[in-house]
Amino acid sequence: MMQDQFGRQIEYLRISVTDRCNLRCTYCMPEEGLDWIPKPEMLSYEEIAEIVAQMSELGLSRVRLTGGEPLIRRDLAELVELIAAVPGIEDISLSTNAILLPRFADDLKRAGVDRVNISLDTLDRERFEEIARRPVDRFDETMTGIESAEAAGFEPIKVNCVVMRGLNDHEVVDFAEITRERPWHVRFIELMPVGRNLHLNDRFISADEVLGRIRAIDDLAPDDGPQGNGPAVYYRFPGGRGTVGVITPLSHNYCERCNRMRLTADGKLRTCLFGDHEIDLKGPLRETGRIEDAVAEALAGKPKRHYLELGTAEGSGGLAALSQVGG
Ligand code: 5AD
Ligand code: SF4
Repeated sequence: MMQDQFGRQIEYLRISVTDRCNLRCTYCMPEEGLDWIPKPEMLSYEEIAEIVAQMSELGLSRVRLTGGEPLIRRDLAELVELIAAVPGIEDISLSTNAILLPRFADDLKRAGVDRVNISLDTLDRERFEEIARRPVDRFDETMTGIESAEAAGFEPIKVNCVVMRGLNDHEVVDFAEITRERPWHVRFIELMPVGRNLHLNDRFISADEVLGRIRAIDDLAPDDGPQGNGPAVYYRFPGGRGTVGVITPLSHNYCERCNRMRLTADGKLRTCLFGDHEIDLKGPLRETGRIEDAVAEALAGKPKRHYLELGTAEGSGGLAALSQVGG
């Protein structure tokens, strides 16, 4: 069992397979990109699977593949197969912008991905370029990608929307309305400040405000929501097929329920999304083949909570962007 110094059980690992992306969402990545991790520094699929295998002996049971955009890494389904073969891993999920799903959804499903989370910040073609800073063709591909996810049988479908005042906040009701007819779980995420997105500081909007706007059109009853590993809190419209969720890193801290660690594409185990605590696994893995001691060290140092604050990157621990650690 992996337990940290505060008694939290860690059974969930988010694995960033690449720090690169085919979009440039304004809250997530600077337009010109970042200093990418050099290829030789990246973990191979075999190395990632070995880390998962050793951590599963310690109590890991659920894994999520993230990026950057995970589907731009070649043959991702091969990694999924390796992870699915690890005894003790019961759940494999994927976070993606959906653009490449038409090509890969069936392979990923067959390989063992159970569920997908899709990033979608606007339903409006015209807005897409402003938020994702890539041509609108990518928006059409995203929509086709979501259809492929449904056709491939991924269940549940969770849609993540980072709400930004003056950019997409006027769409929250439209997003919520979708959940009446479709079994989607639309989750509104509070914008988190990191080093390279402080230009968005005055666009923060709290989940309470978002919920208020949705409640103005109809009742929202508390709901258990879909199964998952995360901190989202869910609601449902009367008779709605899907749910509306909120994720509130700023306005309501949920660190006391934390169940996770993160693995970066270059093999660092990060014990918190924010802060600078990370333990290198790649070194020990390549030198000795074993990572248990490093994992124990990481658990012992996992911080109690994050110290993010509205309007400053102070609490982010020097992170330039969440794409570096998989969001
Ligand atoms: N604030 C909130 N969510 C973010 N994500 C990335 N950067 C941020 C940020 N600054 C999350 C979003 C996105 C996923 C890739 O990572 O949910 O959909
Ligand atoms: Fe856990 Fe860190 Fe996220 Fe808090 S911010 S829930 S401690 S990973």
